[in-house]
Amino acid sequence: MKRIGVLTSGGDSPGMNAAVRAVVRKAIYHNIEVYGVYGGYAGLISGNIKKLELGSVGDIIHRGGTALYSARCEEFKTKEGQQKGIEQLKKLSIDGLVVIGGDGSYRGAKALTEQGFPCVGVPGTIDNDIPGTEYTIGFDTALNTIIDAIDKIRDTASSHERTFVIEVMGRNAGDLALWSGLAGGAETILIPEEDYDISEIASRLKKGQERGKKHSIIVVAEGVMSGEEFGRQIKEAIDFDTRVTVLGHVQRGGSPTAFDRVLASRLGARAVELLIDGKGGRAVGIENNRLVDYDLIEALAKEHTLDLDLYKLSKELSI
Ligand code: F6P
Repeated sequence: MKRIGVLTSGGDSPGMNAAVRAVVRKAIYHNIEVYGVYGGYAGLISGNIKKLELGSVGDIIHRGGTALYSARCEEFKTKEGQQKGIEQLKKLSIDGLVVIGGDGSYRGAKALTEQGFPCVGVPGTIDNDIPGTEYTIGFDTALNTIIDAIDKIRDTASSHERTFVIEVMGRNAGDLALWSGLAGGAETILIPEEDYDISEIASRLKKGQERGKKHSIIVVAEGVMSGEEFGRQIKEAIDFDTRVTVLGHVQRGGSPTAFDRVLASRLGARAVELLIDGKGGRAVGIENNRLVDYDLIEALAKEHTLDLDLYKLSKELSI
């Protein structure tokens, strides 16, 4: 392995820059040249690829977003698009590619690997929905952003004795809702992985009010329904003064937490080690604070599982 490429793809996540930095520095440490692919798979197809030096990744470890830019690319889902990408890499004699992103990015890396171009996947998404790793890069930062918002909303909720519905991201996974709801002391958490019963929620809110509770926080994962829709259901069930906040893309930005920077540094460096060892077609992850790697193709066939013990705990603590 003499030359490798690195790209970020799909929704950006805080810590992607730290992962890119780790890939570049680790590769150069081992006398391997590194090329940055700009704009995700779209940039790969168009050949927007530049050599990166040690200094190219200076001063980015603390920045959110991705200095390599990102995109969601329909063309790369086609065989023709993937072949164009491989040609661009071959033109520059690049032998392996590190792909930092979520499940859509992994599918692209899987397609390249199946066509004979070795890729290693690094899990970068705020959704925490990649099988084979307990944490994805950006999840912790997004959680802290959400908790900051919940704490602020709580001030208003208690001043006005209101019920607040807060819609959080996560696509089809409930991790962001569950962890932020637990850490933010939410009365109710709605996640796609579990059914909910509106009359049970309504009676719990009522009981809380009778006990003297001044406000309630309900966290809804976007994969369940919109916050607006759930706000309507609450209003219909009990006529509480309810407001809805959709946190939206603020959850994706911001300086990565120390946890995400360390995680990104470890995972990015391990991805390079795998390519050096000739182990393409792998994805890296973390389990019980140990780095792991597993088959990229097999991993995509698996389902991400959310920690249902945490869900149970959140219910017990919000009686
Ligand atoms: O995958 C990250 C994510 O932020 C999801 O939580 C969300 O559903 C989606 O991306 C939003 O995508 P976009 O930024 O393309 O609207």
